Amino acid sequence: MPTATLTPALDIHWVRSQFPALAQAINGYPAAFLDGPGGTQVPQRVIDAISDYLRRDNANTGGAYQTGRNTDIMIAGARAAMADFLNCAAEEVVFGPNMTTLTYAISRSIGRELKPGDEIVLTRLDHDANVSPWTALEERGVIIRWVNFRHEDCTLDMADLAAKINSKTKLVAVGYASNAVGTINPVKEIVRLARQAGALSYIDAVHYGPHGLIDVADLDCDFLVCSTYKFFGPHMGVLFGKREHLDRLRPYKVRPLTDASPNRWEWGTLNHECIAGITACVDYIASVGYHVQPEAKSRRAAIVAAHAAIHEHERAITRRMLSGLQEIPGLKIYGITDPARLDERCATLAVRIDGHTPLQLATKLGDRGIFTWDGNYYAINVSEALGVEKSGGFLRIGFVHYNTMDEADRTLTALREITAESSTD
Ligand SMILES: Cc1ncc(COP(=O)(O)O)c(C=O)c1O
Repeated sequence: MPTATLTPALDIHWVRSQFPALAQAINGYPAAFLDGPGGTQVPQRVIDAISDYLRRDNANTGGAYQTGRNTDIMIAGARAAMADFLNCAAEEVVFGPNMTTLTYAISRSIGRELKPGDEIVLTRLDHDANVSPWTALEERGVIIRWVNFRHEDCTLDMADLAAKINSKTKLVAVGYASNAVGTINPVKEIVRLARQAGALSYIDAVHYGPHGLIDVADLDCDFLVCSTYKFFGPHMGVLFGKREHLDRLRPYKVRPLTDASPNRWEWGTLNHECIAGITACVDYIASVGYHVQPEAKSRRAAIVAAHAAIHEHERAITRRMLSGLQEIPGLKIYGITDPARLDERCATLAVRIDGHTPLQLATKLGDRGIFTWDGNYYAINVSEALGVEKSGGFLRIGFVHYNTMDEADRTLTALREITAESSTD
């Protein structure tokens, strides 16, 4: 019988020691950062890389002097780091201020080539940043085909998706994971369906980035976007585009900017200090991998090892949260709750409790040092479809690898107390 290979456990004490922000206390409670889906904390090495760059190398690109050259080298290093993170070539990595801005850049450029009657497939499970840049093309006569999701478990209706793709489809835009309800979509299959119809695929991996390994070569997607501030880095966006598309599509750009990829997609002066932080962020994730697997032979291999350990850690927390939440009277979880289906969701939990608005819950948790989020978090089609948009959306409790089982237990206790307090009011 083959022996099961065990993933080495995440060294949570070491992980937490890397993040200075995690040591804070609020109202006498240790701060529990369960707001990762809105943006994660950063390890010390990211803070150091940003300030070192500003202290030593702060310059524009292309300067014929030392700090200018250092800046060019630093940006090339960050591109190589992101190429390891995504498993692509460095020339396929484009930096931008955030995912939304990069997506508008690509949608405008693709839109230049579309004709009235061409179709784009979007899903109602997506964040609006992977919706509005594409619906903007309706002005040009492009037709949007919508894919629904199953309300009972918040998974995409794949039969509906397959039915919406046809010979007129030019692009399929889909999220890798939902920032609202945590569903992980079968992206590889969706890319395959798009390709079969001759359509491009555009994957929003912003929410998936901190939770799972991204491999654009394996997915074979045409574009994939993510934001480093969601996976322990600075506030920046990163786009992967297949070289053939980055070279062929026409960007809206100023004349003096080079026409060579990937720089032709990077407009104006970028945030160089944050780009320096991106290398440090990828190196941090690799260091998590080297910590659990010291024999990892490359940065990419270490990133793969990191994600295996992160996955196990987050899964254990998700399992505990799902069973604990289901015991709270009047609480409803939106999304997958079956413990046998944890591979289809990440550790992002959307809930509502009878008699409380999500804002009231987030405020009461915040007073106890537990930081969560309330509202629609721009996944407005999800909150509308589930009928909660007008009543405050959801309470979102989001775990990443630096969160602990103890924080999960504290959150469950706090929610039990909050509901018990109100029933005695
Ligand atoms: C799933 C998802 N897509 C896109 C975005 C937008 O990312 P950015 O802030 O980098 O534009 C977010 C931000 O919350 C998100 O969660």
